[in-house]
Amino acid sequence: MITKIIKIDDNNIDMKGIETAGEIIKNGGLVAFPTETVYGLGGDALNPDSSRKIYAAKGRPSDNPLIVHIADKKDMEAVAACVTDKARILADRFWPGPLTVILPRSDRVPYETTGGLDTVAIRMPVHKTAAEFIRAAGGFVAAPSANLSGKPSPTSAKYVIQDMNGRIDAIIDGGDSGIGLESTIVDLSGDVPVLLRPGYITIEELKRAIGEVETDRTILDGDCKDRPKAPGMKYRHYAPKGDLTIIEGDSEDVVNLIIRLSNMAKGKKKTGIIATDETYARYDADSVKSIGSRNDEEMIAHRLYTILREFDDENVELIYSESFDSSGIGQAIMNRLLKAAGHKIIRTDNYPSQG
Ligand code: TXA
Ligand code: MG
Repeated sequence: MITKIIKIDDNNIDMKGIETAGEIIKNGGLVAFPTETVYGLGGDALNPDSSRKIYAAKGRPSDNPLIVHIADKKDMEAVAACVTDKARILADRFWPGPLTVILPRSDRVPYETTGGLDTVAIRMPVHKTAAEFIRAAGGFVAAPSANLSGKPSPTSAKYVIQDMNGRIDAIIDGGDSGIGLESTIVDLSGDVPVLLRPGYITIEELKRAIGEVETDRTILDGDCKDRPKAPGMKYRHYAPKGDLTIIEGDSEDVVNLIIRLSNMAKGKKKTGIIATDETYARYDADSVKSIGSRNDEEMIAHRLYTILREFDDENVELIYSESFDSSGIGQAIMNRLLKAAGHKIIRTDNYPSQG
């Protein structure tokens, strides 16, 4: 299959390109598209064949449900069997934007889209090109992140092309994703709302809007044997090819241990380091990258997947990363970093000192 690349400037949207992309979806094809979080791999959410094709293109297990993207708040009523008061409050407060809500599924949404579940995940992106594309596609676009299963989500068209060229009908190239981490997911289908995936919209913001919100235990605890409520959260995820370890502790101890560990690997394994602006100059390894300043969490979120992909491009075999505060957006950053590392953490105070 030849994948068509459709370039669209979000500040001056070419409606012909949007129409072309929309027609492909209406005809049962697949189109990757930019959103404010990460690129999505879209198909008609109401067409079971389209959802089957999405799983095949991604190489993703079909028990992992897809998010239904809409462009109008009222369309929530069409895909949810009932829209609760809390769902309405969250939609009014955070939509369009990087929040996904889970509600009971309406019969219009096939089980192929919900991975066999009786609930449905719904999101309304704020990205202008995404919104126009969803409208042109008929209003309901099922989309996981546009990466091959297991790889970091793509935050630019370059990485979508790397993973999806030849596998889907078209890719809308709309430049870089602003946020760079996937949406916050909150499950509203039970008695108490549950945070299933942390993101740019923090749990504190959700609590301010709707009161009590629980956190799915599997987000907090790497050893947790419970089955995560978001099926996709159980898979090894966001992972670079190299072996990633996070170093945690007092900042000076972290820098020193990363220096020691990377020195030990010198000449044996191609080694990368995820540093910050504050520590960058202290390291010497094959590939040292600053993820941004510790004072700028938005930049850290924005850069994380790009850095992991860059290490892949450079065939880095071993990666050490500093750890980050896990409050605010930091909860999402650490959640993704921990998954990318398969929960491999070294605490500096548990590590045997030299000599
Ligand atoms: O920012 C985002 O959410 C991006 C962009 C493209 O919108 N999409 C995205 O989709 O990250 P995906 O498929 O990579 O992640 C969706 C997550 C998966 O972990 C999936 O298991 C979970 O949402 N999910 C979807 N529907 C669900 C449901 N009904 N109940 C529980 N979890 C659900
Ligand atoms: Mg994904």
